[in-house]
Amino acid sequence: MLGARCLLRALRSCSSAPCPRHTPSAKLSVRDALGAQNTSGERVKVQGWIRSVRSQKEVLFLHINDGSSLESLQVVADSSFDSKELAFGSSVEVQGQLVKSPSKRQNVELKAEKIEVVGNCDAKDSGFVHIHTPIITSNDCEGAGELFQVEPSSKVKVPEENFFNVPAFLTVSGQLHLEVMSGAFTQVFTFGPTFRAENSQSRRHLAEFYMVEAEISFVESLQDLMQVMERLFKTATMLVLSNCPEDVELCHRFIAPGQKDRLEHMLKNNFLIISYTEAVEILKQASQNFTFTPEWGVDLHTEHEKFLVKHCGNIPVFVVNYPLALKPFYMRDNEDGPQHTVAAVDLLVPGVGELFGGSLREERYHFLEQRLARSGLTEAYQWYLDLRRFGSVPHGGFGMGFERYLQCILGIDNIKDVIPFPRFTHSCLL
Ligand code: 4AD
Ligand code: MG
Repeated sequence: MLGARCLLRALRSCSSAPCPRHTPSAKLSVRDALGAQNTSGERVKVQGWIRSVRSQKEVLFLHINDGSSLESLQVVADSSFDSKELAFGSSVEVQGQLVKSPSKRQNVELKAEKIEVVGNCDAKDSGFVHIHTPIITSNDCEGAGELFQVEPSSKVKVPEENFFNVPAFLTVSGQLHLEVMSGAFTQVFTFGPTFRAENSQSRRHLAEFYMVEAEISFVESLQDLMQVMERLFKTATMLVLSNCPEDVELCHRFIAPGQKDRLEHMLKNNFLIISYTEAVEILKQASQNFTFTPEWGVDLHTEHEKFLVKHCGNIPVFVVNYPLALKPFYMRDNEDGPQHTVAAVDLLVPGVGELFGGSLREERYHFLEQRLARSGLTEAYQWYLDLRRFGSVPHGGFGMGFERYLQCILGIDNIKDVIPFPRFTHSCLL
């Protein structure tokens, strides 16, 4: 799929480029290697990810884990093996002799004779871990009630009313699951199908679309989050342009003449930042007549978003700090007033309007408890509240609609033209 791989590469530091294979010596999991009884120099092969690297003058220590054991396997290699590619997160295949370790910290270690990097993990990238968040879920992350319910099509013999005992739905966002995982891996992302039962046939809404979502622990300001969003947009776009120039060129030439220049304009300029309050002021002063009158406390419509981007010189613009009443329960309270806002951020882009939606999350137990109580969600989101009881940290994240991203870079006006099988109200062909 055009751009999807570039997008993933931009977020995930570890490329999965396969490397040439060869017949292995005895292949062992880390768990089996650690538990090996025969440590008299048996030749083995172990595959896994580098958990730590310690480089000394004459010797290199790596710790490798493949998920089969909590403990990692120590690999000892001659310093001539040392290379930039042997970095935290890179996946490697190590062949060598399994020997008894001289150290008390482990029983065995692998004396490397050959180390092959399967997928390197560029230390310059920020190291996001890919999480497969579930498609079927019992939560409504966005709280907008735009859910497709999941039940068996025919009567399955389950005594309870619901197949899963509780009402279950197709996911509207993997965010809440990512929040759980960001507590373990700090920076995580997911890329998968997302479903919204929005009654819309607009040029930018689908009932089934793909979303790339990221969640980052220890983020304390929207500024930090916006940096990641801007970098993702620019890195992914540059990768698409350099990896598939002919495809992009074709779209630009026949569908959107002038789009190449517009895209370059977006790439070379710093994205702008305005507050929601400023946005409403700009809209109120506009000479254009809008179908929906702009007013503080009312959501921005597509016509408003498109106007704002034009007003900002056709450079993508971050709109920050939206009214609390407009946004979901998880967004962090700015504790301001009388116009009460939350630390939300939307990125608006030329031709499309909203491309990214994100926020700082409410990490403070009592604030979240009150927000949930006010929305009548306390019971359903007890597990989410519990995340704030055990080692809660400031964190934030965002989601970017993949089809809207393609619309934006290719200059395609209707979202239904960037997906082979568009699903929207009254239409589910094939
Ligand atoms: O702004 P949204 O609703 O944000 C979330 O779902 C957050 N939970 C994401 C997060 O913080 N992890 O959706 C994010 C993006 C939108 O900005 C838009 O690009 C896209 O998803 N999107 C749609 N794309 C196509 N059709 C629809 N019906 C869409 N709804 C949202
Ligand atoms: Mg949104």
